[in-house]
Amino acid sequence: MFQHLIGFIYLFAVPQLLSLTGAQDECPLQLNPQRVVVRYAGSVEVNCNTSVLPHNGMGWEASEGAVPKIINQSLITWRVSNLTEWDIKPVCYINLNKGAQCQVKLPVTIYKTPDSVSISTVNHRGPMIEGQQYELQCDVHDVAPVEYLTVKWYKGQTLLHQTTFSDTVETPVNKTVTLLIRPDRDDIGAQYRCEAELDLGAEGPQPSPKYSSEPLNVKVYYKPRHSRSTETIIKDEKGVLNCTVKANPAPVYTWSSGHLNLNISSSVIKVSELSPGNYTCTATNILGSDSKVFILKSTGIRPTFWTVLTVFQLSVALISVI
Ligand SMILES: *[C@@H]1O[C@H](CO)[C@@H](O)[C@H](O)[C@H]1NC(C)=O
Ligand SMILES: *[C@@H]1O[C@H](CO)[C@@H](O)[C@H](O)[C@H]1NC(C)=O
Ligand SMILES: *[C@@H]1O[C@H](CO)[C@@H](O)[C@H](O)[C@H]1NC(C)=O
Ligand SMILES: *[C@@H]1O[C@H](CO)[C@@H](O)[C@H](O)[C@H]1NC(C)=O
Ligand SMILES: *[C@@H]1O[C@H](CO)[C@@H](O)[C@H](O)[C@H]1NC(C)=O
Ligand SMILES: *[C@@H]1O[C@H](CO)[C@@H](O)[C@H](O)[C@H]1NC(C)=O
Ligand SMILES: *[C@@H]1O[C@H](CO)[C@@H](O)[C@H](O)[C@H]1NC(C)=O
Repeated sequence: MFQHLIGFIYLFAVPQLLSLTGAQDECPLQLNPQRVVVRYAGSVEVNCNTSVLPHNGMGWEASEGAVPKIINQSLITWRVSNLTEWDIKPVCYINLNKGAQCQVKLPVTIYKTPDSVSISTVNHRGPMIEGQQYELQCDVHDVAPVEYLTVKWYKGQTLLHQTTFSDTVETPVNKTVTLLIRPDRDDIGAQYRCEAELDLGAEGPQPSPKYSSEPLNVKVYYKPRHSRSTETIIKDEKGVLNCTVKANPAPVYTWSSGHLNLNISSSVIKVSELSPGNYTCTATNILGSDSKVFILKSTGIRPTFWTVLTVFQLSVALISVI
């Protein structure tokens, strides 16, 4: 009884299993190429051949470019010159003798490059303020399939971030991606851009198609910030007190000494016009102000007791030589 059961499994179940799992391998059909990546409205050609001849007919089933059953050939070609069916699933089949049929599916990826890739700021116009957060948006229009799309953000040449998509939709879609940025003073003149890349693998176009947005120039406002808050200057004829500091918009300068406000709006003062003392300069723009103190000292060389004495001794020496 038990042996009969094993025999039953061998006779019926095992061949069933083989035909299920090994169908692709055992079907005497070969596709060349085995997978295709085609541009939307592009052309495609795939051969299907067999080593079995004669057979009871082979053909291609497809919503475009179908090849009706042919009896006496071993190679048939699926050919479409303007492929516009997004969900096309071509199948090559063969009717073997004894009524068996088998088939091989051709994986087809149809891609469409984006109509446009654009960058913008979300809910904001005009200059950005240093240290605050802003949102950038990238719009990729009419691209397929998003499964192979990567949207990359760049600041200049630097890759900031990238996004991929898990949707399996085959038809073109619009995709919007956002990026949070916190610009600083070093971002003056920085150009942000986003790039849509379709990486379709080895069967796809090489190099993979990339579409970049126009660069977005970010204008950043920042307050003045001196690198040092005090500076000691020894008074000489050519020296200056230089309070010049970077800020955007450009700062205005005011000067004071002690309790006295000086009527000076320049960022640089010649020390020859000043007497020793402390001078405070304040640079101000719409975002804030920053002060710097210049400690102006009189020239360090003063006749001391010892220099007077040395001069006296030299004089004495000279006189005695004469
Ligand atoms: C199909 O053709 C190729 C070369 O043209 C050959 O190597 C291959 O064995 C063929 N496949 C079958 C299943 O006949
Ligand atoms: C093969 O088919 C073609 C038409 O598709 C026909 O002209 C030809 O006679 C056939 N050859 C054989 C050997 O059957
Ligand atoms: C391809 O087919 C589409 C839709 O049928 C049509 O609009 C387009 O003009 C065709 N392109 C070519 C090159 O034939
Ligand atoms: C994509 O955006 C364009 C323009 O805004 C619109 O005409 C089109 O219908 C959108 N496509 C999809 C799939 O939503
Ligand atoms: C003052 O400093 C600024 C910035 O450090 C510099 O560009 C400028 O030439 C200086 N001006 C003078 C007169 O030294
Ligand atoms: C400041 O100087 C300007 C000329 O440089 C002069 O016109 C103005 O009256 C002065 N203001 C005061 C308060 O001294
Ligand atoms: C100038 O500033 C220095 C350092 O802050 C201080 O030691 C000095 O007393 C000040 N001089 C005058 C004349 O205010």
